Amino acid sequence: MVALRSYFWLFTLVVSCSALVLAESAWNGHTTPGSVTPSSFNPYYVAPGTKGYDSGSKLLHYSGKWKEKYSSRYTHKSVHATSRAKSYMTFTFTGTGVEWFGNMGQRHGIADVYIDGKLIQRVDTWSAKNLRQQRLYWTFDLAHGKHTLKIVNSGDRRDESKGTTVDIDALVVTMGSTTSVAAAPPPQQDNTTSGEDYAAAFENFASSPVTSQWTLSQKGATGVHAMQLAVISQSHALVIDKVEHNPLSIDGHPAWAALYNLRTHSVKPLRMQSNSFCAGGTFLSNGTLINVGGNPVVQDHTSAADFGDVDGLQAIRIFEPCDSDNVDDCEIVENHSRLRMASPRWYNTVVRISDGSAMIIGGSKKGGWINNSTTNNPTVEYFPPKDINGVNGLPITLPFLVETLNSNLFPIAFSLPDGRMFMAANNDAMIYDWKNNVEHRLPQIPNGVRVTYPMTGTGVLLPLSPANNYASEILLCGGSTVDDKKPGYEISSQDPASSQCSRMVLTDAGIQAGWQVEQMPQARTMPDAVLLPTGKVLIVNGAGTGISGYGNVINQVGSSNADNPVFTPVLYDPSAPNGQRFSSAGMPTSDIPRLYHSVATLTPSGMVMIAGSNPNLDRSEEKYGTEYRVEWLSPPYMNVERPHLGDVPRKLGFGRTVKFDVDLPLSLQGGDVKVVLMDFGYVTHAVHADSRLVYLESSVSDGKVMVTGPPDGGIYPPGPGWIMVVANDIPSEAVKIMVGDGKSPEVNEGAIRNLLTHTSADQYDDEKHHEDDDSE
Ligand SMILES: *[C@@H]1O[C@H](CO)[C@@H](O)[C@H](O)[C@H]1NC(C)=O
Ligand SMILES: *[C@@H]1O[C@H](CO)[C@@H](O)[C@H](O)[C@H]1NC(C)=O
Ligand SMILES: *[C@@H]1O[C@H](CO)[C@@H](O)[C@H](O)[C@H]1NC(C)=O
Ligand SMILES: *[C@@H]1O[C@H](CO)[C@@H](O)[C@H](O)[C@H]1NC(C)=O
Ligand SMILES: *[C@@H]1O[C@H](CO)[C@@H](O)[C@H](O)[C@H]1NC(C)=O
Repeated sequence: MVALRSYFWLFTLVVSCSALVLAESAWNGHTTPGSVTPSSFNPYYVAPGTKGYDSGSKLLHYSGKWKEKYSSRYTHKSVHATSRAKSYMTFTFTGTGVEWFGNMGQRHGIADVYIDGKLIQRVDTWSAKNLRQQRLYWTFDLAHGKHTLKIVNSGDRRDESKGTTVDIDALVVTMGSTTSVAAAPPPQQDNTTSGEDYAAAFENFASSPVTSQWTLSQKGATGVHAMQLAVISQSHALVIDKVEHNPLSIDGHPAWAALYNLRTHSVKPLRMQSNSFCAGGTFLSNGTLINVGGNPVVQDHTSAADFGDVDGLQAIRIFEPCDSDNVDDCEIVENHSRLRMASPRWYNTVVRISDGSAMIIGGSKKGGWINNSTTNNPTVEYFPPKDINGVNGLPITLPFLVETLNSNLFPIAFSLPDGRMFMAANNDAMIYDWKNNVEHRLPQIPNGVRVTYPMTGTGVLLPLSPANNYASEILLCGGSTVDDKKPGYEISSQDPASSQCSRMVLTDAGIQAGWQVEQMPQARTMPDAVLLPTGKVLIVNGAGTGISGYGNVINQVGSSNADNPVFTPVLYDPSAPNGQRFSSAGMPTSDIPRLYHSVATLTPSGMVMIAGSNPNLDRSEEKYGTEYRVEWLSPPYMNVERPHLGDVPRKLGFGRTVKFDVDLPLSLQGGDVKVVLMDFGYVTHAVHADSRLVYLESSVSDGKVMVTGPPDGGIYPPGPGWIMVVANDIPSEAVKIMVGDGKSPEVNEGAIRNLLTHTSADQYDDEKHHEDDDSE
């Protein structure tokens, strides 16, 4: 079912070439972990688990007129070059990806790249400056198996070029994971799934019939590994990673952020100043997206490479709205001397609240997971900063985040209809009344299940509806019962994950009744819960055993702390009777493990985009490798006639009624029609921040929808959202809309000034020199 279709990376070609042309020839940085001496960087990189082939290898077959040239600046000191049209090289390999490295320069021309006989891309190797060991072509999403790469000198050149040289310095093959899962395993009814049960479960696939209309296809590659994902417009998603050897380049070094075109599957690298490793993010009420927190500059055990990034621990990166299909001018900006958090945060959760600003919750002051409060940052702060509860722009301590050590990173948090904040961390939950700085503790999560990093589960705020006065209900799924006070050497990648989901209505009566426990058909740590426009919840990704992270438990697989990837999604129907809510019936099964640093999101078309997985310090193709391939899960509604929306107004004010056209196919007329407002969320580390579905008051007649905006910012925090008309459970495509007035959240200049006066930029770097002050 994983069909590779032919595609053209034309956009990628243009971008990578221009980036190389504009860039300095060799960026100087520290390119290895812990290195303190700058060394010159070039893109040639043989990731662990990949295999490099020099231009002189016997496996490269040259045809036509080629010359061997020698220089110490080439890999293995030689390249094969040709200026003749039609001269070509062929290379047959087994794997899922291949990269071609060679020179660029003023005498260079255009090559045609063929994969398996099909023209895939024209590559212009001209550059104003001579550049060595450049990545001229890459693909990472071939179907498993044998492929042939053919590079042909086209004889063409751009006008500026003084020649038609094309050369080959080296090729690098990605073998791809050898996990093979043929078809959907039968849904497991056993709640007590352990690592050993998995192997047994997977032996039965051959017999399972494929009956449903759910389909899964693999298409596209993210170019930078997808650690963080947010849909930003009808056409694009923002992908953010950490600093590492990604294939997509910018300014002559690997990029760690990109815009992914949901329609053409091309990627545009984004320039980022600081390391966004384990940052969080949210949109604000004016549509601007902020990306918050991250990682310090290269550290032995926290970062693999340093490509000139600065400390990201206090970073607030601004991505202004970028709604057009043309993303040429979209960029991320940051300037820590005037725009930053008060305190350093790694693994913080960021949520848009009822006034349209962002609450920045918890995290670690320098990353990592340790058995004490040394690095815990048990506070919240706001962006823009607030003068609130007697604290002017500075962090406010939450006892909840002190008491939930050790496993309390990336708290699960949702803004509730009454404006308060639900939070779950470790084995606990509470409601935080941020306006008055009061915590209301909720019952503990039953059966000792922990739900936040590194015992990662996921959470959803179930759909909100005027029918029950927007009663909010939380669902927490997966995670682990592993003791968070244990040292890594007593935790194993084979320790079973939890299959428990815990659900509670956040009304007095609901809290009184406590958490209702259900069991997923398979245990999962690091699952992703994706709200669908039908009101159901899709649970994908994750592992049957182990915990989040890499490099700190026993029985690691490669570096992965988790094993037994769960390959089959499961659908949860919140309105079905208990016991009948989970179903994997007819769900397609993937063969791509999606473990630590995986993501999934709904996209405007209605398909679910699944990407990422990287339980590695730096890009590695050893099991479990760094995953760039994207999968698209199509719910059955993608295959039928769907409602079609006319021009939807761009703004939806609170309590205001708007009208637009809807075209309902005959088959859906006279049925049950609902209008839903969704936030697809900002996804990272199994946290789907802001994810939300609100049923709107609406009526449909004569092809017109009258729909009334949510009552206030409690029901839907002001900011961007997506409108869909859902008829008989068949949704239209989603249209982006601005909920509220589209204005900036309140800016308190006094709070900003106080923050800037009382905190320093990039404190962590300072602390390395003189240890002390974190007074607040
Ligand atoms: C699975 O969970 C259900 C509901 O919690 C319970 O009734 C059933 O006995 C459990 N099955 C096993 C095998 O533990
Ligand atoms: C960053 O902000 C400071 C203070 O406002 C300003 O002086 C500086 O020019 C800014 N830097 C950049 C690169 O914009
Ligand atoms: C906290 O844990 C770290 C890592 O295990 C250790 O180095 C440090 O000494 C501990 N600090 C305290 C105050 O116990
Ligand atoms: C972690 O700290 C707790 C008490 O704070 C202690 O009981 C436990 O043994 C510690 N674990 C390790 C691995 O040091
Ligand atoms: C939105 O508001 C934030 C916070 O005030 C501000 O930084 C950002 O520039 C604003 N965006 C636009 C497009 O005005």
